[in-house]
Amino acid sequence: MAINLNIESVHAAYGAVKALQGVSLNIHEGQTVALLGTNGNGKSTLMKCIMGMVKPTQGRITLEMDGQTHELSAMSTQDIVNLGVALVPEGRRLFPKLTVEENLLLGAFRASAREHIARNLEFAYEAFPVLKERRRQLAGSMSGGQQQMLAIARAVMSNPRVLLVDEPSVGLSPLLVSQTITQLQSLKDSYKLTVLMAEQNFNQAMRIADMGYIIVHGEIVFQGDVDTLKGNDMVKSFYLGMAA
Ligand SMILES: Nc1ncnc2c1ncn2[C@@H]1O[C@H](COP(=O)(O)OP(=O)(O)OP(=O)(O)O)[C@@H](O)[C@H]1O
Ligand SMILES: [Mg+2]
Repeated sequence: MAINLNIESVHAAYGAVKALQGVSLNIHEGQTVALLGTNGNGKSTLMKCIMGMVKPTQGRITLEMDGQTHELSAMSTQDIVNLGVALVPEGRRLFPKLTVEENLLLGAFRASAREHIARNLEFAYEAFPVLKERRRQLAGSMSGGQQQMLAIARAVMSNPRVLLVDEPSVGLSPLLVSQTITQLQSLKDSYKLTVLMAEQNFNQAMRIADMGYIIVHGEIVFQGDVDTLKGNDMVKSFYLGMAA
């Protein structure tokens, strides 16, 4: 197995607030894993721990890749990005006063990505033609769905092998949610990515995920493959607030 991201009993806190309490999760090469949970349960914190933006107080995060094991919990964010892990952050975090193309180019700061900048830009435009049409438009003047596409495309400009996507559907209309999820799937296929996606939209996440983990108050309360999750009424009604 060329890629294996392993999160082992990770704890994280913001002062007295315990955000993660012994989270374990595993992602293999080529998988899409959904991290499901409602507001404030620790999804973003886990993504930040993987990126080295929040340091776990206990536990380990390792990335096995091409026969080497990297201890992410001991590395800087820059080194983690250089290794080939990219984050599409919650709320997109675009530069609104820069153009679409400028935002994309900023995603390619990783040294090995700079060599492939032209190819990756072409690839991003192929995957999201609307970004090409609007490459001179200011990012802040794009619609919500277009901005989400831009945020995803920008992350892919760093030529990642592991992509973390934090709530791609937030703030989008149902149609755009569905389109964004579909685009994520095709991007994953064309770049051969391994994906961890935080989502609140259970049904949409289940369309493209292989596995799902449900996080409640910083703990994984349920995990399983898509069929197991979909068939579990308790999961839906108690943890996701959906009618069973
Ligand atoms: N910078 C911070 N300082 C203090 N507490 C924080 C900080 N960031 C997150 N928290 C707290 O940590 C817990 C987990 O937050 P987190 O952002 O990981 O949740 P989430 O599942 O991503 O929620 P959402 O779906 O709303 O994005 C929450 O109780 C939150 O208030
Ligand atoms: Mg979040």
